[in-house]
Amino acid sequence: MDAPIGIFDSGVGGLTVAREVFKLLPHEDVVYFGDVGRTPYGPRSKEIIIQFTVQDIAFLMEQKVKYIVCACNTASSVALDQIAGNYTIEMVGVIHPGADAAVAKTKTGRIGVIGTNATIASNAYARVIHEKHPDIKVFSLACPLFVPLAEEGYLKKATYLIAQDYLQTMHDVEIDTLILGCTHYPMLKDVIADVMGDKVTLIDSGEETARVLYRRLTETSLLHSRASQNPRMEGEKKFYVSDVPDKFTQVASRFLGWNIDKVTRIDIAQY
Ligand code: DGL
Repeated sequence: MDAPIGIFDSGVGGLTVAREVFKLLPHEDVVYFGDVGRTPYGPRSKEIIIQFTVQDIAFLMEQKVKYIVCACNTASSVALDQIAGNYTIEMVGVIHPGADAAVAKTKTGRIGVIGTNATIASNAYARVIHEKHPDIKVFSLACPLFVPLAEEGYLKKATYLIAQDYLQTMHDVEIDTLILGCTHYPMLKDVIADVMGDKVTLIDSGEETARVLYRRLTETSLLHSRASQNPRMEGEKKFYVSDVPDKFTQVASRFLGWNIDKVTRIDIAQY
């Protein structure tokens, strides 16, 4: 089916999920919406996060997308399961793919999850893991300072010290698998890997979500016709934001590794 895939996030962080989608499904057309005017979602209440998520989805539906990816861990954990049933098209969030990958990886049955305050307060990762694996121990920790540090690309000693301080408790409880439960954390993967050591496997929820998306598009015959006719042909990527695009464009080049030439500003309040 030749409609685009819709991806949304509270801002620029979702590009770490989008880049995995671009890698696995290069022939697909993609519409990305980043709610930069109302970011961050992490410190907000459940009611507000649900309201914003409904508006983000409404904008993507208007773009006639065939499938929606909720790249934001906060929106996925707080809002998605509650509202996804209200729509006719299928959606995937980042929680289930990340949780399933962690369960598949752990050998000791001790999994850590780091994310924003709202993601950790929702307990979504632990809930999903415990549905099928009640014996697995899940240790959750909010690391809110990682978001601005990743966005600024601040990979300096101070970031390393903050990571050491935050992650000490994860060392203490002897996890063997750590879910990076926030869009921004893959940008700090090297620092986090260094602090946790090589006995701990890091799970990038974005990577796992792209795999699930690929599988679902295949299973439901929703792949773009280019996939069979001309798989090397790149799909069109469109980017929309809810405030001035300058900062988004600048951070995006770091998150994606290439420059976006056009970003369109929309009024999300009207959705
Ligand atoms: N995108 C958010 C997430 O993955 C991080 C930034 C925010 O708090 O909005 O949880």
